[in-house]
Amino acid sequence: MTDTTRELPRDLEFVPLSADDDETAGQWLDLLAESSGDVPHAAPPCNVDMIGSLRHAPPATALDDWVARADGKVVGALRLVLPEGAPAARVDQLLVHPRLRRRGIGRALHAHALELAGKHGRSTLSATLTEGLPDGPPLGAGPAAFAAAMGAVRADVPGGLHQWLDLGRHNPLADGVPAAPPGYWLVTWGTVTPDEYALQVSALELSLGDAPADAAQQEVRTSYARQFEKMRVGRGRRAHHTGVVHEASGQLAGYTSVSKTTGNPEYLLQGMTVVHRAHRGHGLGLLLKLANLDLALRHEPQVRLVETANDETNRPMIAVNEAMGFEPYDRMVSWTREVGSAES
Ligand code: ACO
Repeated sequence: MTDTTRELPRDLEFVPLSADDDETAGQWLDLLAESSGDVPHAAPPCNVDMIGSLRHAPPATALDDWVARADGKVVGALRLVLPEGAPAARVDQLLVHPRLRRRGIGRALHAHALELAGKHGRSTLSATLTEGLPDGPPLGAGPAAFAAAMGAVRADVPGGLHQWLDLGRHNPLADGVPAAPPGYWLVTWGTVTPDEYALQVSALELSLGDAPADAAQQEVRTSYARQFEKMRVGRGRRAHHTGVVHEASGQLAGYTSVSKTTGNPEYLLQGMTVVHRAHRGHGLGLLLKLANLDLALRHEPQVRLVETANDETNRPMIAVNEAMGFEPYDRMVSWTREVGSAES
């Protein structure tokens, strides 16, 4: 695939990507593996997870996946994420083979993304880029330079903070898991949420614990938790959950979730943690996360690294993570451009 010219391949074409097209999907997986050095520290892509992602979109979201092909080979990839009813299409993947960069393939993929976003009726195209932190490892400036060259503008608002817990350096379970405070007890479950909690989990997740539990539940017509776990199962992911039940009301006061792919036994992803606002201030967030890490490690003893990301204004959650030994790694910032405006 090494190509010494700096020209756009003449036969560059865009092909929809489907999990049923073994040849193209296999080349796409190779592209992802060969580009994995782009994001230092990240878990290597898991083939089962990535092929599953082509078949199982997140709840209330459609995906539009394409590859760029030249000379019969996949040289780039594009994934547009289309949340239901939103004005924006999000670029989740816009990738060019590392040996074929700076010859216009990225620009061509971006033009294709704009065209697709317009066809999907979206008015803006957005992407999330990672930025280094003052004390963190340096990250390349290429993606931001590319986004700027494509006419996107960096959002001037708080972004996300990406933190990692390295269990080889810090064991937050060294003193065990603390007892639940009086009036609460812990429950655990695996990938599939028990029926009795499915609507409560959905309501907590969709309101982030801010709506009165009963009102939020009435608005959850179908269970978000069920749709989310269908995606997880379809992607071959295993999950572990710990919830906290409020004894007096019998309601779920909060829960936390971790998951992992089949392909990376050492990596765990810390997902949603939410404590209903009526139950905050009792240390339940930290308790849930410690108890759930303990649960996960009993099932997944090879795990060494835990990854999480939060809105960087969410100090309470970031403080809980710091108390567990999570360290900041990089931040995530949104870039946006209008779909209708002239291509730069
Ligand atoms: N440094 C500085 N400017 C750059 C760089 C870079 N490393 N890469 C691209 N640009 C800018 C330049 O202005 C370039 O024009 P020029 O070559 O005439 O100077 C312009 O972007 C277009 O470059 P292309 O050759 O079309 O881009 P390429 O095919 O190399 O792909 C991409 C760029 C997609 C960023 C590639 O490096 C890659 O796959 N990186 C990893 C994934 C990634 O970061 N994707 C970007 C997401 S941002 C978004 O989607 C808006």
